[in-house]
Amino acid sequence: MSIRNCQKQNCKNENGNCLLHGADDLPVQCVGQWVEDNYFFLEKYLNASCEARRRFADKNNAVFIDLFAGPGKCIIKNEKREIDSGGILAFKRDEAPFNEYFYFDINSDNTKALEKRINSKSNCNLRCGDSNSLIDDLVKTLLQKPYRYHFAFIDPFGTEGLKFETLRNLAKLQRMDILLHFPIGAIKRNLETWRKSKNTILDDFLGTDEWRKRINGLTSDKIFKVLIDVFAEQLKSIGYPDDGLRMVSSDRDIYAGLPTVPVKNTKEVELYVLILASKHSLAQKIWNSVIKIDPQGQKELF
Ligand SMILES: C[S@@+](CC[C@H](N)C(=O)[O-])C[C@H]1O[C@@H](n2cnc3c(N)ncnc32)[C@H](O)[C@@H]1O
Repeated sequence: MSIRNCQKQNCKNENGNCLLHGADDLPVQCVGQWVEDNYFFLEKYLNASCEARRRFADKNNAVFIDLFAGPGKCIIKNEKREIDSGGILAFKRDEAPFNEYFYFDINSDNTKALEKRINSKSNCNLRCGDSNSLIDDLVKTLLQKPYRYHFAFIDPFGTEGLKFETLRNLAKLQRMDILLHFPIGAIKRNLETWRKSKNTILDDFLGTDEWRKRINGLTSDKIFKVLIDVFAEQLKSIGYPDDGLRMVSSDRDIYAGLPTVPVKNTKEVELYVLILASKHSLAQKIWNSVIKIDPQGQKELF
C-alpha cells in the first residue's frame, strides 16, 4: 500500500490512532506536524549523548524504556507522510545503540503493531498494560543489573496517563535519565475543576497536593511556572539533583520556545514542556546544548 494523505476530520479513535491503517497495513497514530519537533529534540539528544552512552553500550549495558510507546508509526495530518515514533527512532540508532528495549502501551493493537515493526527482536521487551502498574515489575527486573545506563522516554497524551509514583519507582535506578512531556495544555484545560476538588489527576501526576496552596492568588501567566517548580521539587525529592534538572521553559514566558506544541483544528490547544531529568550534570549539559537550536535552525529558542 502507498502512503495516503489523511485529511479526514475526526479520524482518530480513543487511543489517538487513525481509523485507517498505515502503508504497511498496521495502526498509525494521527498527528499534527508539530510532533516532529518532539522527535527532533529526542533524536538530537540521543545523538549528542552518544559518546557518554557508548561507555555503557559497549559493555551491553544501555537500556531504553518507552512507557507510552504507541504503534511505532505516525501519519502526519494533511501531508501524505508517515514517520517513525520516538521509540522506533531510539531503536534505529547507528551510534552506540541501546542494548535492550522496554516498550509499554495500554492498547494491544499498538503493542502488536510495534512488535511487527521492530521485527520481534530478541532484545525488545513489549508489554501491554498500564505503565503505572507494569512499572513495579520493570524496576525489579532492572534492579538486578543496577550498574546499567537507562534512558526513559515518557510521552503520555496528558496528565491522566502518568502518576508520579511511576517516576519515583524509576528513580530507584542510579543511572536513569528521563525525557518527559509536561502536558501544560491538558492542565490548562482542567485546572479550574481540579483546583476545586481533592485527589485529582493532577495530584497524582505531580505526586503532591502542594500545588493548590502554591497557585492560590496567582494570575494564570504565573501558574504554570509554579506548577513546573513544584514538579521540579518533586523530582529533587526522588533523587534528581539541581544540576541534573533544567526546565526547557524560561522564567520570562512559559510558552516561549516550547519544543512540542500540538495544534488541533478545534479551539483546543495542547502545549507540552519537554523536561530532561538526570542525576548527572553531564546529561544536563548536553541537553542545554541540544535545546539551544530549534528545529528550524534558529538559535537560543528557549
Ligand atoms: C502520545 S501517544 C505515544 C506516542 C509515541 N510515544 C510516539 O512517539 O509516537 C500515548 C500512548 O500512550 C498509550 N497509553 C495511554 N495511557 C497509557 C497507560 N496508562 N499506560 C501505557 N500506555 C498508555 C496510548 O495508547 C498511546 O499509544
